[in-house]
Amino acid sequence: MANSLGTMVRGLEDQFSAGTYYKRDIVLVRGRGAHLWDTDGRKFIDCVGGHGSANLGYQNPYVDQAIQEQTSKLLVCNELFYHEERARLLANLARLTPESIHRFFLCNSGSEAVEGALKFARLATGRRQIVATMRSFHGKSFGALSATWNKEYRQPFEPLVPEFSHVPFNNLQKACKAITDKTAAFLVEPVQGEGGVRPGSLEFLKAVQERCHETGALLIIDEVQTGFGRTGRMFALQHFDLLPDILCLAKSMGGGIPIGAIGISQVVASQLFKLAHSSTFGGNPLGCAAANATIRYLEEFHLSERAHELGRLFIRQLRSIRSTRIREVRGLGLMVGLELKEKSGPFIQQLMQKGVLVLAAGPTLIRYLPPLVIEQEDLEKVVTLTAEVLQ
Ligand SMILES: Cc1ncc(COP(=O)(O)O)c(C=O)c1O
Repeated sequence: MANSLGTMVRGLEDQFSAGTYYKRDIVLVRGRGAHLWDTDGRKFIDCVGGHGSANLGYQNPYVDQAIQEQTSKLLVCNELFYHEERARLLANLARLTPESIHRFFLCNSGSEAVEGALKFARLATGRRQIVATMRSFHGKSFGALSATWNKEYRQPFEPLVPEFSHVPFNNLQKACKAITDKTAAFLVEPVQGEGGVRPGSLEFLKAVQERCHETGALLIIDEVQTGFGRTGRMFALQHFDLLPDILCLAKSMGGGIPIGAIGISQVVASQLFKLAHSSTFGGNPLGCAAANATIRYLEEFHLSERAHELGRLFIRQLRSIRSTRIREVRGLGLMVGLELKEKSGPFIQQLMQKGVLVLAAGPTLIRYLPPLVIEQEDLEKVVTLTAEVLQ
């Protein structure tokens, strides 16, 4: 029965999906905490974490209850009307984000957050140029893709949005030279995710912030992957005391329900006009209720602190693996990458066979994004199994 379900699901997806994704040969049915189960009853330790959208893991009681309660009341309430959960969420975001951020545009995904951020930056500055970084990932819609670095994603869709340039990440001289009084915004991830789990240096991030102030360019921080506790702080920018003009949020914001936000400064907000931007499902009651429950759980259970502690231990244990295949282990909180001297694909496959789901990020990296609720014993098992496959 379970096997025939698996066969049916694989068959239909393979036949009818647009086919733009690499697939693992697993049909998932259930999750709890940091564990996932497939149609064959196999149990996995999850270090994929929904590409960073499952910081709270699976079957989170706060999120589940909030969703059920909201579903029984009202699902559709566009921004034409006011809604209690949206109001609470806006206040929560204002409380949690840095003092430079005053208002929020609610949307549904990371790309949408970046897309809106780019529009807002143009409008607020009257300038067009955007400087982003090499190895960046900001999404695949046209504006976001124009800021994304990877040529394979970009070239087939050219011409993209004009006046985007890329500077080497963590190279403050080149970045400061590229940011001029013609720059609308500098867009950066505080820790590059898809680009290989690369934390920004304090020196670099502080220098670009300063350079933005000097030139009147805006600083856009993309926390789509790093936000909501992942790196050991609610937002990664807190490690660097950054005060962005625009902040992009999504992924784990809704505890698994799609929702995103663009945080903006008072100055940026003052330049927006009615219907400068809109989104039918932006700020919908279900997403907002889920996001409020997510924030409540993150705070009550101190998940940022947990990510900080567990991440330190995890990185230390991965570094203690004796294998000549390893080049480097790096990361921040529970956003961790193990760089090999060879292709990581076969090892990712072997880990899956041993019951651990991990991600790639570039050809030679094993990336770990476990739910922040993962138990220490599970992380220790992940280290043991990683060591085993690297033998
Ligand atoms: C830093 C960053 N920005 C933007 C995005 C795009 O988000 P989405 O896939 O929700 O559109 C991603 C997705 O991986 C991301 O990691």
